[in-house]
Amino acid sequence: MTETADTRTSAPRLSVSAPSGPTVIQRATALDAAEIAYVAAITFPLACPPHSHREDMAAFITSNLSPAHFGAYLSDPACAVFVARTESEITGYTLIKTGPPAADAECELPPGLALELSKIYVLPGHHGTGTSAQLMGAAVQHARNARASTLWLGVNSLNERAQRFYRKCGFTYAGTRTFTVGSQTEHDFIFALNLSSAAPDV
Ligand SMILES: CC(C)(COP(=O)(O)OP(=O)(O)OC[C@H]1O[C@@H](n2cnc3c(N)ncnc32)[C@H](O)[C@@H]1OP(=O)(O)O)[C@@H](O)C(=O)NCCC(=O)NCCS
Repeated sequence: MTETADTRTSAPRLSVSAPSGPTVIQRATALDAAEIAYVAAITFPLACPPHSHREDMAAFITSNLSPAHFGAYLSDPACAVFVARTESEITGYTLIKTGPPAADAECELPPGLALELSKIYVLPGHHGTGTSAQLMGAAVQHARNARASTLWLGVNSLNERAQRFYRKCGFTYAGTRTFTVGSQTEHDFIFALNLSSAAPDV
């Protein structure tokens, strides 16, 4: 990512399709842990670059995205999980954690409380429907309620769709970090949303 590419944020386009069907966003409970893990197992590989090894992604899912892991997030007061839910199923989720990027990240955020948007993951059949924007709205509202100054995230440098989505939501490039999935060291961009600015109308 270059500063040139980052200038796309100067006039963010905020148009997305209206949600198809009755999708609601809810704070997840412990009862949702297994279904969120199911959605995570489907969607995590979609966020990985094309050169990712299947065994590395599978190991990462087992080690980080199991029902037990989500159960722990759901009982952790430093975390919040929101799900997008239709009448029949969970179609996406977002996990928000308290804290700044790790010390080895190369980025600088404004002073004040930083929350991490530990990504938005939506099932493929619901991309482009507005579900992601609904989840983002809940995450931003949560961060504002927590009086955070910044909402930040790491996104793979090759995940152009996600970057486009985050930029539409008002995030801008703030730095880089590395992210390890099995044998591969991946390069993430750090994007940040300044919560003292006007809320984006995604
Ligand atoms: C990332 C994600 C949450 C975004 O939600 P979404 O519903 O797909 O987002 P939208 O359709 O509103 O926006 C995506 C934008 O990227 C564009 N896009 C689609 N494919 C693209 C591609 N291959 N390269 C660049 N842009 C692309 C879309 O046209 C759209 O832009 P537009 O509204 O200006 O036309 C969703 O795609 C997802 O869950 N992906 C899989 C998991 C993932 O990667 N999560 C993010 C991890 S950081």
